[in-house]
Amino acid sequence: MEGTIAGLSASIEAIPPELAISEVSNLFLSDALQDILSLPVVLEDGRIAGSISRYQLMRIFFRPYGRELFGKRPVRSFMNTTPLIVALDQSIEQAAQHVTRHITAPVTEDFIVSHEGRYHGIGRVIDLLQAMEARVRRHSQELSQAYGRLKASQGQLIQSEKMASLGQMVAGLAHEINTPLGYVRNNVELVNAALNAAGDAIRALNPDASTGDDADTLDEARRYALAFEQEYGLEDTAGLLEDTLYGVRQISELVSNLKTFSRLDQAKLAAASISECLDSALMIARHLLKDRIEIVKQYDETPLIECSPSQINQVFLNLITNAAQAIDGNGRITLRTYVEESHVVASLQDTGSGMAPELMKRIFDPFFTTKDVGQGTGLGLSISYQIIKQHGGQIRVASKPGKGTRFTIRLPIPTAAANTADGSDRPPMEASHG
Ligand SMILES: Nc1ncnc2c1ncn2[C@@H]1O[C@H](COP(=O)(O)OP(=O)(O)O)[C@@H](O)[C@H]1O
Ligand SMILES: [Mg+2]
Repeated sequence: MEGTIAGLSASIEAIPPELAISEVSNLFLSDALQDILSLPVVLEDGRIAGSISRYQLMRIFFRPYGRELFGKRPVRSFMNTTPLIVALDQSIEQAAQHVTRHITAPVTEDFIVSHEGRYHGIGRVIDLLQAMEARVRRHSQELSQAYGRLKASQGQLIQSEKMASLGQMVAGLAHEINTPLGYVRNNVELVNAALNAAGDAIRALNPDASTGDDADTLDEARRYALAFEQEYGLEDTAGLLEDTLYGVRQISELVSNLKTFSRLDQAKLAAASISECLDSALMIARHLLKDRIEIVKQYDETPLIECSPSQINQVFLNLITNAAQAIDGNGRITLRTYVEESHVVASLQDTGSGMAPELMKRIFDPFFTTKDVGQGTGLGLSISYQIIKQHGGQIRVASKPGKGTRFTIRLPIPTAAANTADGSDRPPMEASHG
């Protein structure tokens, strides 16, 4: 009968209604009953008639001549006719609910346990409360374990969203790097051939290698030089090298961007420019935009913000990715940065599909996605929301179906006071970033 009231019931002899008050008080003095607050009063057939408590007796005896006047009276005339009764098969929770609902303060009676309408035993209120307390403690332990497991699995999900976007980025970047790499190789081969052709002219001019007279040598060298000029040209060759340098620079820029982004799990704080974060994310998302999406930038001068740049980059990358995915065919993404009161603001406006209000309500929910498997995890915006909140900022969205969507991110400008001596009087949460 684990969990029922049976475990708390002690078999204590009940008293008949005719027993005299002074006899009852003698019973209460016995060792066996020293922890019991009240005794059940039971009829011969076992039905419960009431209860009598130490407290009631005490009140009777406290009256002037109480014992003399009332000691011989039967318990029936003083008993409580509505005692606390709990059925044997009730659960601890049910019993505790019933008892706490009917109990009076101070606690002067214990509860009577009944079985099929007859007296069964007596249970102490204090034992019941202790049993309840143990239960609550166990439940809260279980709850906190479950919470711990939930947090751990959420952490894994956030990690997997990071890995997914990292994977996408790497694929995109490999593609991006391939294009300049292709023409860098091509150009180097061309320059190599050009150098060989120029080498023919130079070798012809070398007296050791020439066999004929000077005029022949010069003629031959001139022919080679002409051939070089016709085939390659000095200027064109120099141009090739310039293009090559440009391509190499592009590649190293992509690589350094990838380096910034691959540190996604680092939450180190640094002073960063919101426009540079946007540009960095834009660079990573280039392969999504290709020729189909025009980017319009309207950047104001903004102060640096204190943030984890890799996390802010992750937010922007997700917003740009979402915008690009919302645009079917050609479209435009407008990026703005500006200052509003004590905040730096970044807004991303797209000419994509837009969202109906019912959909918009759910976009920050974890796992909410309208995209196919592999296209979306449904975690991007919920993670973005977390990141911005942790930075003390806000993320807002406005959208019109068929017209487009605008996400606005506001991040606090670090106050000068936070860095000066008198700023240290402020409560710690003002300066903290959670
Ligand atoms: N710019 C946008 N335009 C239209 N719908 C959007 C836009 N950004 C987000 N959404 C909607 O919000 C959903 C959730 O976005 P997100 O949390 O980033 O997850 P995912 O991109 O993996 O689906 C998307 O599936 C999409 O329906
Ligand atoms: Mg997304």
